[in-house]
Amino acid sequence: MTESLVVFLFIWESISSINACTLPVHYCDPSDHVPQILYPCNNTIEALVGSKLEITCRVLTELHPTVSMIVYWLANYSFIEDYSKSARVKEVHTERRDKKAAYVEVDLKFSEVKIKDFEVNFQCVVLSEEIEQERFVFIKPAVSNVASDFVVILVVLISITLVSICMYKFVKSKHLLSYVILK
Ligand SMILES: *[C@@H]1O[C@H](CO)[C@@H](O)[C@H](O)[C@H]1NC(C)=O
Ligand SMILES: *[C@@H]1O[C@H](CO)[C@@H](O)[C@H](O)[C@H]1NC(C)=O
Repeated sequence: MTESLVVFLFIWESISSINACTLPVHYCDPSDHVPQILYPCNNTIEALVGSKLEITCRVLTELHPTVSMIVYWLANYSFIEDYSKSARVKEVHTERRDKKAAYVEVDLKFSEVKIKDFEVNFQCVVLSEEIEQERFVFIKPAVSNVASDFVVILVVLISITLVSICMYKFVKSKHLLSYVILK
């Protein structure tokens, strides 16, 4: 019983870790510092070569800003216009505000992800009079669905084998035990 529970948890963990990359983003270590980069979080995201991709740099700002601020992306420490002269990668700026807060968002839009993007440090930079902040994000090749399905099937098969072996050993040891007691 315990074994099947362990195996179930194991399978569940494998499946959820595979799906983790499709879950919505979470903000990293929030502080009360303003302006503050809410996303990206110095992390790695997955993308398929040839697919579209959008990475948003989300910055929390003051509701009534007193100092000017600029937000931009860098690719390997160069400006995006220099990294992608053909406008394959573009920056799109938007500002949002509600009653409590204001945000500046700069989307990094890829019309098509290329292999060379996988080795690049994409950095969102916030420059205001007092401070400079940056957060980076790396892109790594996504495991395609076929491959992840294969992994799930493999994990299930291995688990079933392990359970069978454990049960076999368990039953066998019980038999031995009763044999010893009878003797
Ligand atoms: C970015 O930098 C990394 C390491 O510094 C290097 O391997 C890679 O080739 C660079 N990529 C581009 C497109 O400049
Ligand atoms: C993210 O990386 C930058 C350097 O690129 C560093 O200055 C910053 O402290 C890091 N932030 C977090 C939350 O790890």
